[in-house]
Amino acid sequence: MILVTGGAGYIGSHTVKALKASGLSPVIFDNFSTGHRSFIKGTPAFEGDVCNSSDLEQVFGEYSIDGVLHFAGKALVAESAEMPESYYQTNLIGGLNLLGAMKKCGVRFLIFSSTCATYGVPERVPIPEDHPQNPINPYGETKLAFERAMRWFHKAHGLEYLSLRYFNAAGADADGEFGEDHNPETHLIPLALQAAIGHRAEVQIFGTDYPTPDGTCIRDYIHVSDLARAHVAGLQVLMEGRVQSQALNLGTGGGYSVREVIESVRRITGRDFAVRETARRPGDPPQLVASVNRAKDLLGWTAVESDLDKIVASAWKWLQRTPSP
Ligand SMILES: NC(=O)c1ccc[n+]([C@@H]2O[C@H](COP(=O)([O-])OP(=O)(O)OC[C@H]3O[C@@H](n4cnc5c(N)ncnc54)[C@H](O)[C@@H]3O)[C@@H](O)[C@H]2O)c1
Repeated sequence: MILVTGGAGYIGSHTVKALKASGLSPVIFDNFSTGHRSFIKGTPAFEGDVCNSSDLEQVFGEYSIDGVLHFAGKALVAESAEMPESYYQTNLIGGLNLLGAMKKCGVRFLIFSSTCATYGVPERVPIPEDHPQNPINPYGETKLAFERAMRWFHKAHGLEYLSLRYFNAAGADADGEFGEDHNPETHLIPLALQAAIGHRAEVQIFGTDYPTPDGTCIRDYIHVSDLARAHVAGLQVLMEGRVQSQALNLGTGGGYSVREVIESVRRITGRDFAVRETARRPGDPPQLVASVNRAKDLLGWTAVESDLDKIVASAWKWLQRTPSP
């Protein structure tokens, strides 16, 4: 079986579905702090906390685990600057607990949810995997620290891992079973859709004087179902010994500006909403775009569902199904 920590969360739930579709048997491990019980949908699930080693040892004892996908973590950049201790606790110590339990139980294969935030402010775009990593917030720092811990566990204990550095995950399941439901929500596409449906009064643009064609920041949006497929492909090549332990970017290699996203939301929803232009936020790089050649070469994977309008349409469908707050 495949243990999926954080399998009741946004990206984890889509990946659990993709694992099942590929004939693999996932078991979810989640403390439901930001995940949703309604996302379990009949998958075996264990309620536990990665910060608690005995929970991990129990789940490894109960199920016969062959590999692990590790999504569980805290993922809010601004919150991480306010409470770094809780980010170190969950993202680093929790991760080390997982590595300890895997070692104890002889489980060697691990796919980790890393992030483009480990690069910090890029010196060049598209960003290749060997770009210097200089995170500028505790979120990126704790993710990088765990990436490094995996490298040492690989050398010392034979851990085989892929560190998947996602760019901006977005969109929702085509069947409408799962979607983005974070609280608080900090991601642009759901924020703009919430403004379109009337759940919030406006959407803000932070900075309109960046050195980009329309002055707003550019990000690489990757459909969550594309991400899910990459995890299944990554796990398969890793377990078959066809790839070495390393980091891979997951993005499209292109990007859209904040204004382009807002226009797409207006186009797809057919609704207008208030947009407020405010000052830049400290630490927002003008562009974050992935170099995606390595994932293509090693996994035979590229994003196929990540056209902006398609992403927005799938997220809109999901939002309209979920009850208003
Ligand atoms: N969403 C993005 O754009 C993005 C980008 C880059 C990286 N990531 C990473 O991907 C992973 C998943 O992100 P997401 O957007 O699905 O977030 P999410 O909050 O929806 O999912 C995280 C899941 O982990 C669980 N969890 C949190 N702390 C836990 C703990 N201590 N023990 C057990 N379970 C715990 C939560 O309940 C939730 O189900 C995170 O590690 C995040 O850092 C996300």
